[in-house]
Amino acid sequence: MMPNAAAPATEGSDRSVPLHVAIIMDGNGRWAAARGLPRAEGHRRGVEALRRVVRAAHELGVLYLTIFSFSSENWSRPATEIGDLFGLLRRFIRNDLATLHSDGVRVRVIGEREGLEPDICTLLNEAEELTRANTKLNLVVAFNYGSRQEIAGAAQRLAREVAEGKRDPASIDADTLGRYLDAPDIPDPDLIIRTSGELRLSNFLMWQAAYSELVFVPIHWPDFDKAALESAIAEYARRERRFGGLAAKTGS
Ligand code: IPE
Ligand code: IPE
Ligand code: MG
Repeated sequence: MMPNAAAPATEGSDRSVPLHVAIIMDGNGRWAAARGLPRAEGHRRGVEALRRVVRAAHELGVLYLTIFSFSSENWSRPATEIGDLFGLLRRFIRNDLATLHSDGVRVRVIGEREGLEPDICTLLNEAEELTRANTKLNLVVAFNYGSRQEIAGAAQRLAREVAEGKRDPASIDADTLGRYLDAPDIPDPDLIIRTSGELRLSNFLMWQAAYSELVFVPIHWPDFDKAALESAIAEYARRERRFGGLAAKTGS
């Protein structure tokens, strides 16, 4: 029998709380524009929202929190804005890493490291190294991340193994490809939240989202807080996940 690869690891436990929540933190620029402020101020307030939400996610029993911080396509923004976003990441790691570590948060980073400035790579590595043994909450930072790029990278590594005679192409199935993605040990997101009212994934976790529940909220990211997270989780709890099977009440 084929195992259901998409089935959540939470089987049998309290499934009203998602094990893995992934968030597309969108709307910083519009939040700022609505207040006559520069976009950079929206991003700065976005970091404050992130701090709140990391704490809230842990309090609510979420074990994995993935946040989309910079997409592969965000390079098309003006250089000054890219500089602001990178500056905020630097400051976030420098200021918050010690607290995250003492709170038992394990930091993971997905996305392309190549092409990033060396000091950013050093900070990302430091954050991962320092917090490696922590078990309270996994904070997965998607930075310079794009799902198509991630899948293409996995395909490239598999193709190399085939070319080197180390792998039979017939051995490549969906589970194999999944193991070549950036963080194969992390379960697929149960819930993906996007703020700002946009209704799209924007190249975020497209492989992993196969059976995720999607919740779109109209508020901009700087206004997101614990209550908003709770209400997204409540919406998630009302959904019926079937993974291609039958509804619990009709199935056996
Ligand atoms: C999200 O806010 C932050 C990043 C994409 C890095 P935006 O900067 O996309 O804000 P809007 O969507 O323009 O309002
Ligand atoms: C997605 O938001 C990327 C991040 C939140 C980091 P964007 O603002 O870049 O997405 P689009 O351009 O509106 O699709
Ligand atoms: Mg946006």
